Amino acid sequence: MNRRRFGKLVAALGLSCLPLNVPQLFAQGAKAQRVGVTLLDHVTGAAALSNGVELKAGKASMQITALREDVLRIRISKTEKLPEDASWAVLPSARTSSVATTYDAQGGTVGFHTKLLKVLIDRSTLSMTISDQSGRFLLQDAAPIEFYDDRFRVYKRMPGQEHYFGLGDKTGPLDRRGGAYEMWNTDQYRFQESTDPLYKAIPFFLADNAGRSYGVFLDNTWRTSFDFGKEDSKAYSFGADGGPVDYYFIYGPKPKQVVEGYAWLTGLPPLPPQWSLGFQQSRYSYMTEAKVREIADRMRADRIPCDALYLDIDYQAGNAPFTVNQETFPNFPNFVQELKAKQFSLVMITDLHIADRPNQGYAPYDTGIAGNHFVKNPDGSVFVGKVWPGPSVFPDFTRKESRDWWGGLYKEFSEDGAAGFWNDMNEPSVFEVPSKTMPLGLLHRIEEPGFVSRFASHEEIHNLYGMENSRGTYEGLLRLKPQQRPFVLTRATYAGGQRYAATWTGDNSSTWNHLRMSTPMLLSLGLSGFSMAGDDIGGYAGSTTSDLLTKWLEVGAFNPIYRDHSEKFTADQEPWVGTPEAEAVRRKYIEDRYRLMPYLYTLAEENSRTGLPMMRPLFLEFPDATADKHPLDLDAPNQFMLGQSLLVAPAPYPEQPDSYLVTLPPVSWYDYWTGKKITDGPHKAVAVSTGVPLGIGELQSVKILPQLEVLPVFVRGGSILPFAPLVQSTKEKPNGPLTLKVYPGDQCEGSLYQDDGISFAYRDKDYLRVKYDCESGKDSLRLHIGTREGHFQPWWSDIEVTIFNWDATPGKITYSGAPISKFHFDVSSRSLTISLPEKAEGGELEIVAR
Ligand code: NOJ
Repeated sequence: MNRRRFGKLVAALGLSCLPLNVPQLFAQGAKAQRVGVTLLDHVTGAAALSNGVELKAGKASMQITALREDVLRIRISKTEKLPEDASWAVLPSARTSSVATTYDAQGGTVGFHTKLLKVLIDRSTLSMTISDQSGRFLLQDAAPIEFYDDRFRVYKRMPGQEHYFGLGDKTGPLDRRGGAYEMWNTDQYRFQESTDPLYKAIPFFLADNAGRSYGVFLDNTWRTSFDFGKEDSKAYSFGADGGPVDYYFIYGPKPKQVVEGYAWLTGLPPLPPQWSLGFQQSRYSYMTEAKVREIADRMRADRIPCDALYLDIDYQAGNAPFTVNQETFPNFPNFVQELKAKQFSLVMITDLHIADRPNQGYAPYDTGIAGNHFVKNPDGSVFVGKVWPGPSVFPDFTRKESRDWWGGLYKEFSEDGAAGFWNDMNEPSVFEVPSKTMPLGLLHRIEEPGFVSRFASHEEIHNLYGMENSRGTYEGLLRLKPQQRPFVLTRATYAGGQRYAATWTGDNSSTWNHLRMSTPMLLSLGLSGFSMAGDDIGGYAGSTTSDLLTKWLEVGAFNPIYRDHSEKFTADQEPWVGTPEAEAVRRKYIEDRYRLMPYLYTLAEENSRTGLPMMRPLFLEFPDATADKHPLDLDAPNQFMLGQSLLVAPAPYPEQPDSYLVTLPPVSWYDYWTGKKITDGPHKAVAVSTGVPLGIGELQSVKILPQLEVLPVFVRGGSILPFAPLVQSTKEKPNGPLTLKVYPGDQCEGSLYQDDGISFAYRDKDYLRVKYDCESGKDSLRLHIGTREGHFQPWWSDIEVTIFNWDATPGKITYSGAPISKFHFDVSSRSLTISLPEKAEGGELEIVAR
């Protein structure tokens, strides 16, 4: 609840209104004189802890502890006892970590410091300040924390130059400053630019103040809200309708450190199966086996690489989860095998609502009732709500036993060979009720290792429900096939849900505006733990146009999840719709994604190891790019990085024919498509500030005249990118050399990660990792190919190295000392291509101009 709602509530109850100028509250020494509102505004007792400090404020208690030198936890209760120390989001290993702190108590303040952070609490106001070692403020209370009944609100000062990012799948600009947002998982069919809340609740944001970053994660599953200066330009605030005041402060100072710190707290995503990075084709619904076969065969016939096909709800009998319509899919196991043989992975929707079909031999219902697995009304009867199958019952996913039962429901589909599962409608969505979901007073049961067993209202569990649904699916699939990486796509989730599922942005629309909106949404998800995210390519609601589909398939080729999906009764949306020319453009981009697969998969592995998203805002890679260190993205709407090397620059308003400027961070850049250095290529670089050719260290921009068939993509100078020969599916073994494209520049490096793409054998060293670096002089270049790490055998026996921005036929080329005579110098693209044998020990390629 934001302050407006909070204020309204206070007013509605006949209470005096909350003061408007929140930051002045401390200064005015405001006290808790408003009836019903408790303000925590002075310290009445303080005690040192080995890892922090414990405070009393009258009856209220507060504990601030250090989990790491750079991660703090703040817990506050208006009673003497802190709430139960349990979390769905934060890993037990992180929650129980601690570092020794030094207690600081002098004069009017009390607090502690770690090696990196200093925490001070003003005894007379209870105002908390967190600063860095040099004493620079990072986070400071702007007003006393407020409690009203079970609701609370925390206020922080909002420096003029601080910007806010994250909060999961929110629409609107990437920078959340000036906006207010709610977290309440909601089925938002046809959401629009100002729709809030959406499907997921990820109460985490990253703040960046002139290149210095920190993160705040409010670990609260109730309805939460964030206001970044909408109500008051000097303060931001966050709060909840119930549940604990339990938040974490994650220090950077670099934004990447914050993102990694958040992953340390809430968990890393698993390494996805490689096929999930391929092109995915979906539709609500391919109605029959024959139709799916037709789509599969057309993909192969038209040479459109594709890895996954989706079955939406109509494959089921009467929309009942875990059934198959025997008339339209008469030979299901054979059909799945047939698709497999054609190198497709099948993803099946399995919604959480179980059809309410007693005495009809419907096993999910019968076993669910027998096992007491469904959510109950307060009177103890099973709750029934209407969804796709009609009256439905809802698993109680906060019980481990019920999740285990749910996971077991996948047995047959898993045995049939389905590769992935799609958990939709899990906000949970309920039809024909104004709230679109379950009544708030329904009772869920928490029966869970690490938690005290108890009943919990739906209001508490709502935002968590989708995550625990996807967890049940993920863990169940893992039990059924322990050697196979599960793939789960979920619509609703909570913080930490990245441990179990990938996601997408829900029911967007087939409009140019929605294409534009999707980039900041995916970037926000990536910063909030969900790197494996995509949107419905081409748009879900409404019929796409040929040009819109083309452009969307171009942009989507550089998004982590690349799935074309559309609603019932809309026009066809497969890559071939329209003219052969349009199909050729789309094919080119899909093919390019497949060639780039080694890079994409290397990024996915990095994400699973560090938490860094594959798709990144510019400031994550270039936090110091601007003179005053404001995030570069504010000047570059809709540009994004894919990993550290690729900068993708769709038009900010893709339907407009006008030219636009792409802002390039201050390093050298190459055109991805031609390999030409930006200075002499089709795009001339000019200084952003003056528009004239570049001076040293100036921010550069290039002017782009939009063309339907071109998506501007740039490569950071100093990159070494791996490419594979084209395949039609990631299951096909590439035939030909590994290509390394070298874009000379400062700190020139790259890496490659490969494994079997499907199993967990990589955990036993059955993977391959190689690091590359290069150094270039005026007339020379040295490329170092590192020693192969891991046992995985490469699919290539040769490496083709292409070096860009190379001026002349070389004089001498050696690989680890041995002369190389075969090379190709291309004058027009100014590139030099050399073929090398693959060697486990790597080697040193040296090239000297004549
Ligand atoms: C809602 C989902 O968001 C959409 O993608 C799906 O096609 C429909 N449910 C039908 O299952």
